[in-house]
Amino acid sequence: MDVTIFGSGYVGLVTGACLAEVGNQVICIDVDEDKVAMLNAGGVPIFEPGLDDLIAKNRQAGRLRFSTDPDEGVAHGLFQFIAVGTPPDEDGSADLRHVLAVAKSIGERMTGYRVIVDKSTVPVGTADRVAEAMRAAQSERGHHIDFDVVSNPEFLKEGAAIEDFMRPDRIIVGTDNPRTGELLRALYGPFNRNHDRVMVMGVRSAELTKYAANAMLATKISFMNELSNIAEAVGADIEMVRVGIGSDPRIGYQFIYPGCGYGGSCFPKDVRALEHTATTSGYKAELLQAVEAVNHRQKERLFSKIERHFEGALQGKTFALWGLAFKPNTDDMREASSRRLMEQLWAAGARVRAFDPVAAEEARRIYGERSDLELVENRMDAIEGADALVIVTEWSEFRSPNFADIKAQLNTPVIFDGRNLFDPTQVTAAGVTYVSIGREPACPA
Ligand code: UDX
Repeated sequence: MDVTIFGSGYVGLVTGACLAEVGNQVICIDVDEDKVAMLNAGGVPIFEPGLDDLIAKNRQAGRLRFSTDPDEGVAHGLFQFIAVGTPPDEDGSADLRHVLAVAKSIGERMTGYRVIVDKSTVPVGTADRVAEAMRAAQSERGHHIDFDVVSNPEFLKEGAAIEDFMRPDRIIVGTDNPRTGELLRALYGPFNRNHDRVMVMGVRSAELTKYAANAMLATKISFMNELSNIAEAVGADIEMVRVGIGSDPRIGYQFIYPGCGYGGSCFPKDVRALEHTATTSGYKAELLQAVEAVNHRQKERLFSKIERHFEGALQGKTFALWGLAFKPNTDDMREASSRRLMEQLWAAGARVRAFDPVAAEEARRIYGERSDLELVENRMDAIEGADALVIVTEWSEFRSPNFADIKAQLNTPVIFDGRNLFDPTQVTAAGVTYVSIGREPACPA
């Protein structure tokens, strides 16, 4: 089938490459000329395991092309995917400017029936606005050609996006027209493993499903983080509590890891956007507000622990940071806990020496050259002569260090672990003070 994808960002590229991989003819359109030139020269502007190989393979096979030309894009695909960015506005609502601009662009140019597929994460009601924008653009041109707008939210995890797309848990298709549902079913047929993964529902239900999934996961994390603070206050061990509750199949073991807060491009933005949608629809979403507030506070938790340990004397100290990305296997630092921590450390007059397997470049892009940030090439270089080691991202290569070496290299042998990677008895047996999440007795809030 012929597919056009507007937006060659993270979601657009993964969608384009995976749809090409199963035999479709895909064109990705982007307004950014440099990005399209890079893609046409074989480069990939983002880091995602397996994506570069998949793009290269499908370009070579002639199934995947990149262009800046919307005429070519609209002429090509029966399916016109909208996968452009929806950056949050000041008030937390998603900014639909780019989505509606694409809708207008398709409306102006189309000469035959098209299925418009909303892939970007967009608030409930967006499909109607896309349809309106298209109808307005068509009337301006004096033509009226049939189209349908479908909501088809993505559920991709950074670092595992290709696998998530190729072997999905579910494919949500929101449409009020059964015929369009069948077209999407056919497009997604190759991704049904063992049984049908396509769930067809009303447009608004599909739009809400995406937010509901992310808000539920964020709620699980904030709940566990809140509980970890209670565990500290009462002298319990959150890791035992986690195992204890996870064994109940109704609760489950997944996504109940306490830590130094969730980040990334989805959870923070989607929780705020859903809360905003609820408010504007006349409902005060108090639970979502709390999820957000708990996460904000949790991102400051490591700093509070560090400050308390050093009795406020952080001026001139150097902190080794392991991990900058918001989670392992990505270089993405959007809303990463490392950022809030570094900013607090800098404000207190401390220096940061950080190691991340892939995100150093991104940190340099965000913060530029500054005398209180040093980015090093390996994890042991970070700790040499530092006053403490702080673990922010749970990269697997951090899981089994030599604690004796760490002790020898640090000025003061103390590890602040925002991801509970180690067994406390093992660390303390090596003569290193270990401060983690939800496992210290009676720690004040
Ligand atoms: C998420 C959803 O998982 C995905 O389905 C959706 O499409 C987009 O948002 P992503 O943002 O890539 O994906 O990362 P995810 O692996 O879900 O982690 C999000 C954040 O939560 C990370 O900062 C992670 O460290 C944190 N987290 C996750 C916890 O603190 N505890 C957990 O138990 C799980």
